[in-house]
Amino acid sequence: MTKININEELEYVEKVSKINEGKNLKYNILTMGCQLNENDSEKICGMVEKMGYTKTDDISLADLVIYNTCCVRENAEEKLFGKLGEVKKLKEAKGTIIAIGGCMMQEKHIVDKIKKSYKYDVIFGTHTLHKFPKDLYNAIIENKRITDILDIDGEIIEGLPIKRDDNIRASVTIMNGCNNFCTYCIVPYVRGRERSRSSEDILKEIEDLAKAGYKEITLLGQNVNSYMRVEREKGICTDKINSFAKLLREVNKIDGIEKIRFISPHPKDFTDDVIEAIRDLDKVSKFIHLPLQSGSTNILKTMNRVYTKEEYLNLVQKMKEKIPNVKFSTDIIVGFPEENEEDFENTLDVVRKVKFEQIFMFIYSRRVGTPADKMENQIPEEIKHKRFDKLKKLYEEILAENNKEYIGTTQNILVEGYSKINSEFLTGRTDTNKVVIFKGDSKLIGRFIQIKIISEHMWYLKGEILNE
Ligand code: SAH
Ligand code: SF4
Ligand code: F3S
Repeated sequence: MTKININEELEYVEKVSKINEGKNLKYNILTMGCQLNENDSEKICGMVEKMGYTKTDDISLADLVIYNTCCVRENAEEKLFGKLGEVKKLKEAKGTIIAIGGCMMQEKHIVDKIKKSYKYDVIFGTHTLHKFPKDLYNAIIENKRITDILDIDGEIIEGLPIKRDDNIRASVTIMNGCNNFCTYCIVPYVRGRERSRSSEDILKEIEDLAKAGYKEITLLGQNVNSYMRVEREKGICTDKINSFAKLLREVNKIDGIEKIRFISPHPKDFTDDVIEAIRDLDKVSKFIHLPLQSGSTNILKTMNRVYTKEEYLNLVQKMKEKIPNVKFSTDIIVGFPEENEEDFENTLDVVRKVKFEQIFMFIYSRRVGTPADKMENQIPEEIKHKRFDKLKKLYEEILAENNKEYIGTTQNILVEGYSKINSEFLTGRTDTNKVVIFKGDSKLIGRFIQIKIISEHMWYLKGEILNE
């Protein structure tokens, strides 16, 4: 892995901040997509604030509007076009600078469409985040539209300033890109090949977060449990911490960090060392995201998921045996090409057997450039929606069943702040990511406390503090 030197790019942060001096400028950012995009946005905010802009939630006040885009499904793309239509008036009225970045910008047909039909100042991609200050500078100085997209692989960018959204929980990207090429998925085309950050850089970042008072860390990547795998297989890994299991063990040693989560792992990379690390390490959450996608072995094969229904269920069984109280969440796609009723029944069967605590359900969306888009036997929208509704109904039944098991239990909960559900209550989450609300003093915010669950309300639980 090659780390690129970004000193030259960061000089533009200084240059833009000189231009902006004394102008009291504001920016507005909209992030679409996954936690990786959110983490990228925190870096964009870090750079933008150093360039003299302050954040506003009111887009009409913004001098700079940034869209960090996602293209994993069609509705994410439609959202951007809607927003670009709206912001056009603002640009015409007061010259607002429009910057568009993220995964969608790595798609040529999209960039062509934006160039042809929409107003913007800067287009940047997932590989050119660090060049945003330079691009913005050129857009301002030369008063012309800048497009800065790279189609590169295997480079790591370190040292970008970061402005985090939260001061208790933080995300840390440990690897970028994906090599799996599931046939429905656009991510490998817009995020490039798998590459891992050095453990030294990751651990330093987490140690600094711990010193700053952060308690919970989420390790991020498209494929976290294949951390350093490519480097190991190519024989170019110089890191002693050369696997995900070893990385978990190191992060667990960091004083001050009390909870470690990670997302997303792939079932194929849940090797025994990873399972044992989860079992052994007290800070590592026992709530595992295990993306299923489909319960049908035939569909899994055409999806290129490289496991069968039985292998998935065996893995769940093995983890249940090895890790006391392990619980699972998952991602499921309905309506993949060729999916018939029997295939779909197999998905429902796995859902019934595993009793997932949380299911992220998606209707299959055709993505230009992916193999599945070219497959015959695309499923009619009506059938896709029927299946989606059936899965949702089953999920709600399982949710109600699972929720009952929480009543009377004691949960160790990190107090996050006041609840949005009811502002008289504080809020936090169980290890399984369920929202819990309870009455208590604001001084508890940022601490782990014991809560007894007294009632369940479908999407959240209510509890009482046991001890302070
Ligand atoms: N790397 C992660 C996340 C990928 S995107 C992982 O592998 O789990 C998040 C989820 O979006 C995927 O797990 C999948 O369920 C869903 N997804 C991806 N492409 C999709 C498509 N074309 N249509 C519908 N859902 C999709
Ligand atoms: Fe997409 Fe599959 Fe990679 Fe996840 S593992 S990002 S679903 S190609
Ligand atoms: Fe979307 Fe890119 Fe994440 S396509 S899901 S924002 S990696």
